[in-house]
Amino acid sequence: MTGFVYLVGAGPGDPELITVKGLKALQRADVVLYDRLIAQELLDDAPAHAERIYVGKDLGSPSQPRQDAIHEALVHHAKLGKTVVRLKGGDPFVFGRGSEEAAYLTAHGISYVVIPGISSAIAGPGAAGIPVTHRGLSAGFCVFAGQEGEANHLPETHWQAAALIGTAVFLMGVSRLSKILEKQRQYGRPESTPVAMIASATCPEQKVITGTLATIESLVTDIHPPAIIVIGDVVGVRELL
Ligand SMILES: C[S@@+](CC[C@H](N)C(=O)[O-])C[C@H]1O[C@@H](n2cnc3c(N)ncnc32)[C@H](O)[C@@H]1O
Repeated sequence: MTGFVYLVGAGPGDPELITVKGLKALQRADVVLYDRLIAQELLDDAPAHAERIYVGKDLGSPSQPRQDAIHEALVHHAKLGKTVVRLKGGDPFVFGRGSEEAAYLTAHGISYVVIPGISSAIAGPGAAGIPVTHRGLSAGFCVFAGQEGEANHLPETHWQAAALIGTAVFLMGVSRLSKILEKQRQYGRPESTPVAMIASATCPEQKVITGTLATIESLVTDIHPPAIIVIGDVVGVRELL
Protein backbone atom coordinates (compact mmCIF):
# COMPACT_ATOMS: atom_id res chain seq x y z
CA MET A 1 0.00 0.00 0.00
CA THR A 2 1.26 3.50 -0.84
CA GLY A 3 2.27 5.66 2.10
CA PHE A 4 1.42 9.23 2.92
CA VAL A 5 3.32 12.51 3.00
CA TYR A 6 2.93 15.32 5.53
CA LEU A 7 4.38 18.66 4.39
CA VAL A 8 4.96 20.19 7.80
CA GLY A 9 5.94 23.71 8.81
CA ALA A 10 8.30 23.50 11.77
CA GLY A 11 7.89 27.14 12.81
CA PRO A 12 10.48 29.91 13.02
CA GLY A 13 13.22 28.29 15.12
CA ASP A 14 12.14 27.60 18.69
CA PRO A 15 11.19 23.89 18.53
CA GLU A 16 8.13 24.56 20.71
CA LEU A 17 6.66 26.73 17.97
CA ILE A 18 5.66 23.81 15.75
CA THR A 19 1.88 23.26 15.69
CA VAL A 20 0.27 20.43 17.69
CA LYS A 21 -0.80 18.89 14.39
CA GLY A 22 2.71 19.12 12.99
CA LEU A 23 4.18 17.49 16.08
CA LYS A 24 1.62 14.65 15.93
CA ALA A 25 2.57 13.97 12.30
CA LEU A 26 6.25 13.96 13.24
CA GLN A 27 5.59 11.45 16.01
CA ARG A 28 4.05 9.09 13.41
CA ALA A 29 6.87 9.36 10.85
CA ASP A 30 8.82 6.49 9.35
CA VAL A 31 10.94 8.91 7.34
CA VAL A 32 11.73 12.58 8.00
CA LEU A 33 13.25 14.73 5.25
CA TYR A 34 14.36 17.94 6.92
CA ASP A 35 15.84 21.32 6.06
CA ARG A 36 18.80 23.32 7.30
CA LEU A 37 17.12 25.38 10.03
CA ILE A 38 15.33 22.52 11.78
CA ALA A 39 16.10 22.21 15.52
CA GLN A 40 17.62 18.93 16.73
CA GLU A 41 14.95 18.79 19.49
CA LEU A 42 12.29 18.42 16.81
CA LEU A 43 14.14 15.59 15.09
CA ASP A 44 14.32 13.89 18.49
CA ASP A 45 10.51 13.94 18.57
CA ALA A 46 10.32 11.52 15.61
CA PRO A 47 10.09 7.83 16.58
CA ALA A 48 13.40 6.08 17.24
CA HIS A 49 12.94 3.90 14.16
CA ALA A 50 12.36 6.86 11.83
CA GLU A 51 14.95 7.48 9.15
CA ARG A 52 16.13 11.11 9.34
CA ILE A 53 17.37 12.45 6.00
CA TYR A 54 18.99 15.88 5.74
CA VAL A 55 18.05 17.63 2.49
CA GLY A 56 18.99 21.21 3.48
CA LYS A 57 20.55 23.59 1.03
CA ASP A 58 23.60 25.03 2.79
CA LEU A 59 24.70 28.52 1.82
CA GLY A 60 27.83 28.33 -0.30
CA SER A 61 28.04 24.53 -0.20
CA PRO A 62 28.99 22.93 -3.52
CA SER A 63 26.96 19.77 -2.81
CA GLN A 64 23.40 21.06 -2.76
CA PRO A 65 20.62 18.47 -2.92
CA ARG A 66 18.68 19.35 -6.04
CA GLN A 67 15.01 20.11 -5.64
CA ASP A 68 14.11 17.33 -8.08
CA ALA A 69 16.08 14.86 -5.93
CA ILE A 70 13.93 15.90 -2.96
CA HIS A 71 10.78 15.39 -5.04
CA GLU A 72 11.92 11.94 -6.06
CA ALA A 73 12.84 10.98 -2.50
CA LEU A 74 9.36 11.95 -1.26
CA VAL A 75 7.69 9.79 -3.90
CA HIS A 76 10.17 6.94 -3.43
CA HIS A 77 9.57 6.63 0.32
CA ALA A 78 5.80 7.06 -0.03
CA LYS A 79 5.70 4.29 -2.64
CA LEU A 80 7.46 2.00 -0.16
CA GLY A 81 4.39 2.49 2.05
CA LYS A 82 6.10 4.82 4.53
CA THR A 83 4.65 7.71 6.48
CA VAL A 84 6.86 10.55 5.29
CA VAL A 85 7.25 13.91 7.01
CA ARG A 86 8.79 16.70 4.97
CA LEU A 87 9.82 19.13 7.69
CA LYS A 88 10.46 22.71 6.62
CA GLY A 89 11.35 25.87 8.50
CA GLY A 90 8.56 28.35 9.12
CA ASP A 91 5.61 27.77 6.83
CA PRO A 92 6.05 25.39 3.88
CA PHE A 93 4.38 27.83 1.49
CA VAL A 94 6.45 30.93 2.36
CA PHE A 95 9.64 30.73 0.30
CA GLY A 96 9.69 27.07 1.21
CA ARG A 97 9.05 25.39 -2.15
CA GLY A 98 6.30 23.43 -0.40
CA SER A 99 3.89 24.15 -3.21
CA GLU A 100 6.33 22.68 -5.76
CA GLU A 101 6.59 19.53 -3.67
CA ALA A 102 2.81 19.37 -3.28
CA ALA A 103 2.36 19.74 -7.05
CA TYR A 104 4.87 16.94 -7.68
CA LEU A 105 3.10 14.63 -5.22
CA THR A 106 -0.24 15.41 -6.85
CA ALA A 107 1.19 14.64 -10.29
CA HIS A 108 2.48 11.29 -9.00
CA GLY A 109 -0.73 10.27 -7.28
CA ILE A 110 0.74 10.41 -3.75
CA SER A 111 -1.64 11.43 -0.96
CA TYR A 112 -0.43 14.25 1.24
CA VAL A 113 -1.55 17.00 3.55
CA VAL A 114 -0.01 20.39 4.18
CA ILE A 115 0.34 21.32 7.85
CA PRO A 116 1.00 25.06 8.01
CA GLY A 117 3.71 26.50 10.21
CA ILE A 118 4.35 29.80 11.93
CA SER A 119 6.38 31.81 9.44
CA SER A 120 9.51 33.64 10.51
CA ALA A 121 8.23 36.52 8.38
CA ILE A 122 5.65 37.35 11.07
CA ALA A 123 6.92 35.55 14.17
CA GLY A 124 10.50 36.81 13.75
CA PRO A 125 9.59 40.48 14.02
CA GLY A 126 7.05 39.57 16.73
CA ALA A 127 9.72 37.85 18.81
CA ALA A 128 11.72 41.09 18.62
CA GLY A 129 8.75 43.14 19.85
CA ILE A 130 7.90 44.39 16.36
CA PRO A 131 4.32 43.86 15.17
CA VAL A 132 4.00 43.72 11.38
CA THR A 133 0.88 45.88 11.68
CA HIS A 134 -0.03 48.47 14.31
CA ARG A 135 -3.07 50.70 14.41
CA GLY A 136 -2.13 54.15 13.17
CA LEU A 137 1.33 53.11 11.97
CA SER A 138 0.89 50.36 9.41
CA ALA A 139 -2.29 48.88 7.98
CA GLY A 140 -0.50 46.33 5.83
CA PHE A 141 2.66 44.36 5.28
CA CYS A 142 4.35 42.50 2.47
CA VAL A 143 7.00 39.80 2.54
CA PHE A 144 9.71 39.83 -0.12
CA ALA A 145 12.62 37.64 -1.13
CA GLY A 146 15.75 39.65 -0.43
CA GLN A 147 17.99 37.18 -2.22
CA GLU A 148 18.66 37.71 -5.88
CA GLY A 149 18.43 34.67 -8.10
CA GLU A 150 16.51 33.30 -10.98
CA ALA A 151 13.72 31.96 -8.80
CA ASN A 152 13.37 35.00 -6.57
CA HIS A 153 14.00 37.84 -8.99
CA LEU A 154 12.11 40.91 -7.78
CA PRO A 155 10.54 42.87 -10.62
CA GLU A 156 10.78 46.66 -10.36
CA THR A 157 7.09 46.86 -9.41
CA HIS A 158 7.82 44.77 -6.30
CA TRP A 159 10.71 47.03 -5.30
CA GLN A 160 8.36 49.95 -5.65
CA ALA A 161 5.63 48.21 -3.63
CA ALA A 162 8.19 47.41 -0.91
CA ALA A 163 8.90 51.11 -0.49
CA LEU A 164 5.24 52.12 -0.49
CA ILE A 165 3.74 49.46 1.81
CA GLY A 166 3.34 50.22 5.53
CA THR A 167 5.69 47.42 6.57
CA ALA A 168 8.15 45.68 4.26
CA VAL A 169 9.62 42.39 5.47
CA PHE A 170 12.57 40.88 3.62
CA LEU A 171 13.71 37.29 4.09
CA MET A 172 17.06 35.98 2.80
CA GLY A 173 18.32 39.55 2.53
CA VAL A 174 21.47 39.75 4.68
CA SER A 175 23.92 39.78 1.80
CA ARG A 176 21.77 42.18 -0.18
CA LEU A 177 21.06 44.79 2.46
CA SER A 178 22.70 47.58 0.45
CA LYS A 179 20.53 46.94 -2.57
CA ILE A 180 17.38 46.67 -0.45
CA LEU A 181 18.09 50.02 1.21
CA GLU A 182 19.00 51.64 -2.09
CA LYS A 183 15.69 50.55 -3.63
CA GLN A 184 13.78 51.88 -0.63
CA ARG A 185 15.42 55.29 -1.14
CA GLN A 186 14.86 55.16 -4.89
CA TYR A 187 11.12 54.73 -4.40
CA GLY A 188 10.78 57.42 -1.78
CA ARG A 189 11.26 56.11 1.76
CA PRO A 190 12.85 58.82 3.92
CA GLU A 191 16.27 58.22 5.44
CA SER A 192 14.67 58.45 8.89
CA THR A 193 12.49 55.33 8.30
CA PRO A 194 13.07 52.80 11.11
CA VAL A 195 14.71 49.52 10.09
CA ALA A 196 15.35 46.36 12.11
CA MET A 197 17.37 43.27 11.47
CA ILE A 198 16.51 40.17 13.50
CA ALA A 199 18.82 37.17 13.39
CA SER A 200 18.01 33.68 14.71
CA ALA A 201 14.59 34.87 15.81
CA THR A 202 12.90 32.87 18.60
CA CYS A 203 16.18 31.01 19.29
CA PRO A 204 18.41 31.50 22.35
CA GLU A 205 20.96 33.32 20.17
CA GLN A 206 18.38 35.79 18.79
CA LYS A 207 19.93 39.15 17.96
CA VAL A 208 18.08 42.37 17.13
CA ILE A 209 19.62 45.53 15.70
CA THR A 210 17.57 48.63 15.00
CA GLY A 211 18.40 51.83 13.18
CA THR A 212 17.13 53.80 10.24
CA LEU A 213 17.50 53.65 6.51
CA ALA A 214 20.47 55.97 6.95
CA THR A 215 22.20 54.12 9.80
CA ILE A 216 21.33 50.41 9.73
CA GLU A 217 24.10 49.35 7.38
CA SER A 218 26.83 50.60 9.69
CA LEU A 219 25.17 48.90 12.68
CA VAL A 220 24.76 45.34 11.37
CA THR A 221 28.37 44.39 10.78
CA ASP A 222 28.05 41.30 12.98
CA ILE A 223 24.70 39.87 11.82
CA HIS A 224 24.60 36.50 10.13
CA PRO A 225 21.80 34.52 8.44
CA PRO A 226 19.15 33.50 9.07
CA ALA A 227 17.89 37.03 9.49
CA ILE A 228 14.85 39.14 8.70
CA ILE A 229 14.85 42.79 7.68
CA VAL A 230 11.84 44.89 8.72
CA ILE A 231 11.33 48.36 7.30
CA GLY A 232 8.66 50.77 8.51
CA ASP A 233 7.38 52.74 11.48
CA VAL A 234 6.28 49.55 13.29
CA VAL A 235 9.95 49.01 14.19
CA GLY A 236 9.56 51.87 16.67
CA VAL A 237 6.88 49.95 18.58
CA ARG A 238 9.68 47.81 19.99
CA GLU A 239 10.61 50.75 22.23
CA LEU A 240 7.12 50.62 23.81
CA LEU A 241 7.02 46.91 24.61
C1 LIG B 1 14.12 29.90 2.45
S1 LIG B 1 13.41 31.06 3.53
C2 LIG B 1 12.22 30.03 4.33
C3 LIG B 1 11.19 30.80 5.11
C4 LIG B 1 10.27 29.91 5.91
N1 LIG B 1 9.48 29.06 5.05
C5 LIG B 1 9.34 30.70 6.82
O1 LIG B 1 8.12 30.72 6.60
O2 LIG B 1 9.84 31.27 7.80
C6 LIG B 1 14.68 31.20 4.74
C7 LIG B 1 14.74 32.62 5.31
O3 LIG B 1 13.76 32.78 6.33
C8 LIG B 1 14.25 33.65 7.32
N2 LIG B 1 14.31 32.93 8.60
C9 LIG B 1 13.91 31.68 8.84
N3 LIG B 1 14.05 31.38 10.15
C10 LIG B 1 14.55 32.47 10.74
C11 LIG B 1 14.91 32.80 12.07
N4 LIG B 1 14.77 31.94 13.08
N5 LIG B 1 15.39 34.04 12.31
C12 LIG B 1 15.53 34.94 11.33
N6 LIG B 1 15.21 34.69 10.05
C13 LIG B 1 14.72 33.48 9.75
C14 LIG B 1 15.64 34.11 6.87
O4 LIG B 1 15.48 35.30 6.15
C15 LIG B 1 16.05 32.97 5.98
O5 LIG B 1 17.04 33.38 5.06
